Amino acid sequence: RRQVKLAPSLLASDFTRLGEELQAISSAEYAHVDVMDGMFVPNISFGMPVLAAARRVSSLYMDVHLMIERPERYIRDFVEAGADGITVHVEATPHVHRAVGMVRELGRRAGVTLNPGTSLETLRPVLADVDLVLVMSVNPGFGGQKFIAQSVERIRTLRAWLDELGSDAELEVDGGVTPSNARLLADAGATVLVAGSSVFGKDGAAAGLTRLREALA
Ligand code: DX5
Ligand code: ZN
Repeated sequence: RRQVKLAPSLLASDFTRLGEELQAISSAEYAHVDVMDGMFVPNISFGMPVLAAARRVSSLYMDVHLMIERPERYIRDFVEAGADGITVHVEATPHVHRAVGMVRELGRRAGVTLNPGTSLETLRPVLADVDLVLVMSVNPGFGGQKFIAQSVERIRTLRAWLDELGSDAELEVDGGVTPSNARLLADAGATVLVAGSSVFGKDGAAAGLTRLREALA
């Protein structure tokens, strides 16, 4: 069984206490950073200044998910703000191969992702050139949405494709992840689970993380 990484999404955290929230998730493998531009997705979240603030108070791996049009315009800025990995959407640029190349040239880990309604085939041409593949299991734009069940089959397919290639890229899943489906997703071949609302609940992020780990044990 693969060791599964957890990536709490800061989108669901209390921004007035960002430092404490990062402290509460310090046992996680990644901090997931959701950047939204109000164009690629119908919501605006935050950008470089908030990532830079998180970077100043945390040594967590910053897993930046760019839900923005033409992400190549801002890759350098997110690297300078402290990103360790940057994931771009295939739908957001005609130059996804160039975008992942830019991330790698800057010495960071490059990820690629796609919306639930986008064919997996769109990923094939770049699969050998990425460090991470992200399966969106909700339509991006908002936290707290319901997991789309067909995503499990998409994870299985991508797992098979990555194994065929001999790729050791991470296979991440994002949207509606809870203690009830975490084990199923890991068994389908996911190696990184993003979780927002199921981690940053009423009883605190540390307890939320523990619940996810227990579900995976
Ligand atoms: C959705 C974001 C997700 C979101 C996950 O657009 O990419 O990372 O924050 O939130 P939950 O876990 O609440 O679905
Ligand atoms: Zn995300």
